[in-house]
Amino acid sequence: MTKKNRLIGIVRHRSFTKLLDFSGDEIMVLIDLAIKLKAARADGNETKHLKGKQIALIFEKASTRTRCSFEVAAREQGAGVTYLGPDGSQIGYKESIKDTGRVLGRLYDAIEYRGFSQENVETLAKYSGVPVYNGLTDEFHPTQVLADVMTMIELSGKSPEDISFCFIGDCRNNVAHSLMTGGAILGMDVRICGPESLMPDEELTATCRRISEKTGSKLLLTQDKKESVEDVDFIYTDVWVSMGEPWEKWQDRIDLLLPYRADMELLEISGNPEIKFMHCLPSFHNRETELGEKIYEKFGLESLEVTDEVFESRHSVVFDQAENRMHTIKAIMVATLWEE
Ligand code: CP
Ligand code: NVA
Repeated sequence: MTKKNRLIGIVRHRSFTKLLDFSGDEIMVLIDLAIKLKAARADGNETKHLKGKQIALIFEKASTRTRCSFEVAAREQGAGVTYLGPDGSQIGYKESIKDTGRVLGRLYDAIEYRGFSQENVETLAKYSGVPVYNGLTDEFHPTQVLADVMTMIELSGKSPEDISFCFIGDCRNNVAHSLMTGGAILGMDVRICGPESLMPDEELTATCRRISEKTGSKLLLTQDKKESVEDVDFIYTDVWVSMGEPWEKWQDRIDLLLPYRADMELLEISGNPEIKFMHCLPSFHNRETELGEKIYEKFGLESLEVTDEVFESRHSVVFDQAENRMHTIKAIMVATLWEE
């Protein structure tokens, strides 16, 4: 067995439902593989590792990047996919997640799940007997963070333990939770900044603090913008109201989060002229969407979590992140479904 295969072997047949199940070395195996697969694709010499495999894609919430990444990655690797959208299957209304897992596990080699509860994705992993990938739940968005860390490594040229980033905004959401977890596991300098009422889940924070003590990660939770961005390599934000949250939340979130918007002033107070701006997307940076226009009509705001100036600036690396979703998702499928 080659060294590369031995390394990939540590994640073979495993589900990817949350980063807490993985060590820093295991996460880096996936990111390193994604970097290699990206290079092979660019050179036109990608090997198809997933010939004959079938992947079920369950989406109870909308998606562009995650769905397309799974579909393109699977096809490029020789696998087939079945998309099960929010309507049209028996899932949830007539058939439990546990039974769905047992059915799909007989037909498919792996299952992707995007939905509401983390418990659902864990139940699928427990009962399907095949690898299950979390494509986003209310609690976590782990495949996003693989792409984000890959992007940070590529653009900074640094190892994770030398990279610093600040997540600013709704720090209780799935992306913030996964970034904090991944950053702690990988030994990164992690700053989480937002109003006190939107700080990350207390239990998860305590777990991440314990992990940080072992990995040497710095974990700062603060309401102070200057402290949070001083000298960081990356500033990251996400929407203020996530999928599944009611429209009524907007007023409260705007009141709380407007001072924490990513604008040019925030980038400037970092003191890093080469600072990079990150966002998982989609984002409210202008009025060019139905929802963006609705928010403008109701609240009079042209942009929300990030200004258009920052989004369109030389600092913005959001489309590099979006591309890397595909390479990292491909790496997860290849590594977990790997055969000698
Ligand atoms: N970042 C992300 O998960 O995007 P989609 O909602 O488009 O999948
Ligand atoms: N926090 C966002 C992430 C979207 C990719 C949401 O859950 O809607």
